Amino acid sequence: MAEKQQMVGEVYYPTPEVITQAHIKNYEAVYAEAQADLAAFWGKIAAANFEWFKPWETVLDESNAPFYKWFTGAKVNIVHNALDRHQRTATRNKAALIFEGEAGDTRTYTYQQLHYEVSKFASILRSMGVKKGDRVTIYMGRIPELMIAMLACAKVGAMHSVVYGGFSTEALHGRIEDSQSRLVITCDGAWLRGEIVPLKNITDEAVNRSPVVENVIVVKRTGQDVHMEHGRDHWYHDLMALDIANPNASTEVMDAEDPLFILYTSGTTGRPKAILHTHGGYMVGTATTLKWVFDIKPEDVWWCAADPGWITGHSYIVYAPLLLGATSFMYEGAPTHPYPDRWWQLIAKYRVTILYTAPTAIRGLMRFGEAWPEKHDLSSLRLLGSVGEPINPEAWKWYYRVIGKERCPIMDTWWQTETGAFMITPMPCVPLKPGSGTRPFPGVEVDVVDEDGNSVKANEEGFLVIKNPWPSMLRTILGDPDRYVQQYWSRYSEQGWYLPGDSARKDEDGYIWIIGRIDDVIKVSGYRLGTAEIESALVSHPAVAEAAAIGIPDELRGNIIKGFVILRQGYEPSDKLSHELRDHVGHEMGPIAKPSTVDFVTSLPKTRSGKIMRRVLRAQVLGQDVGDTSTLEE
Ligand code: PRX
Repeated sequence: MAEKQQMVGEVYYPTPEVITQAHIKNYEAVYAEAQADLAAFWGKIAAANFEWFKPWETVLDESNAPFYKWFTGAKVNIVHNALDRHQRTATRNKAALIFEGEAGDTRTYTYQQLHYEVSKFASILRSMGVKKGDRVTIYMGRIPELMIAMLACAKVGAMHSVVYGGFSTEALHGRIEDSQSRLVITCDGAWLRGEIVPLKNITDEAVNRSPVVENVIVVKRTGQDVHMEHGRDHWYHDLMALDIANPNASTEVMDAEDPLFILYTSGTTGRPKAILHTHGGYMVGTATTLKWVFDIKPEDVWWCAADPGWITGHSYIVYAPLLLGATSFMYEGAPTHPYPDRWWQLIAKYRVTILYTAPTAIRGLMRFGEAWPEKHDLSSLRLLGSVGEPINPEAWKWYYRVIGKERCPIMDTWWQTETGAFMITPMPCVPLKPGSGTRPFPGVEVDVVDEDGNSVKANEEGFLVIKNPWPSMLRTILGDPDRYVQQYWSRYSEQGWYLPGDSARKDEDGYIWIIGRIDDVIKVSGYRLGTAEIESALVSHPAVAEAAAIGIPDELRGNIIKGFVILRQGYEPSDKLSHELRDHVGHEMGPIAKPSTVDFVTSLPKTRSGKIMRRVLRAQVLGQDVGDTSTLEE
């Protein structure tokens, strides 16, 4: 059993044993190497760790910034590196994915078996006319077929657009329409707390309004009767039993800069935007960050407890672990089902060595007390991780003490859908401060600055900026390159810096402390939602004339949503209507977007140009000083 970590003041120092084992033993040295020559640094990593069908001409092409390109001229496919190449080595017989369903059913896929399934499904996609550049929407629960579907799309060169299974009709419909997907892959239902989430019914509602969809493939998971539209809907298992499902299907040769996927995320205003990632740079960025930060070894059992429907799952359930030939564990259901020790039981059962989850899950499990984790042998764990929102020091310490037994360093990773991979994060060799993501990953230069771009003083709040490009960065917003420039690169266009949209402070040791979003993005239980989406869901109800949504701090979920509505003539405020409006948002958007309260108001604070001043609403609700209201109309 490993030694306990050393703690001095509020700093946790890694034990010599952790450092000796780690891939990266000296953070400063590697960081300096990347700073000295960024292109050489990434070029060396890309050449040493992946197979390219054709090498690149240029590592980093900055000629059309901020439309940066990486590994230009190279030919590659991420699936070749994630699956195909492992078929030639002993990795072929290693577990790629160990799965446990909520009901306790289990399945294991070796690299060979996963390759077999993905290849067969890829040939089915091809037979349906799916080809390079097409978009395919995937809307499923957390089951292996979700991963198989994503990888099959990438194998044939189509972009997957995964919509989180917790979203609902309107969210799904909007994403299908925006991406113009002709194929949707879903399942009959998903298990959650012993109940069926009727994904196929929701898909039907969304697809019936989207004439663009020609085919729907349905995985049978929950087994209840579902409607199958003749000529449009096909069972996955029927297709996979056809002779054309070829286990030797070829892998499409892609340009390094060809799109791999789009993933919708909420921005400052308007509709969610389709963040686009590519085969080459994303592959290099995700695999390298996972290897160095979570120090992945051949014998590890890696559990990223996120959902594949969000970027965390894309990067660190699906792609990076397979690229490294690692073994992943995936669990379908809720952490508290049937009892609040389900996760701890799973760790003991599968001897999980690394657990990566969100602060909201830790806070949720913490509420049930220490007796639940104490019942299980958690001694297999060697590293822990956190992502999605700032982790409060109490939750950090509980995670550290009760789950990690003061032996397991916690990697608090800051990153975004847009960044593709970890940006600010410790590595096992870096001393930790609870609540700080510590230092930038090698090759990433960050600062905390004021409006004009001057570095703010130590411990003062400012805007987080990233000063250089990185391989796994988003390339654009699909169909809206102007918005890409506007949203991320316009605030500091002179300096050429990327604006993530977070406020932060930097302490005297250069450690970064994320404070929160500076825009109208609300993080609820680590999920990223836009006020605009929630407001348009509210306004889609016949009783609502105008609506505003804000996030209010919450001990458990990080933030909760509060809605404010102005009713149309003929409607009267009532508790019943307030409930109905909350349920309406839940139905349109999904349970995570359901406001905790919906209040009736007769006016909303607005600027003279008509923009709702959510900051003022928030301050009012929190009983704070409303600040500068010079632009407020009334
Ligand atoms: O505000 C930051 C917060 O999550 C935002 C990105 O959300 P999303 O694109 O959904 O990706 C989440 C998973 C990578 C960021 O702008 N955030 C993410 N990780 C952290 C965090 N805030 C504080 N600490 C983190 N470790």
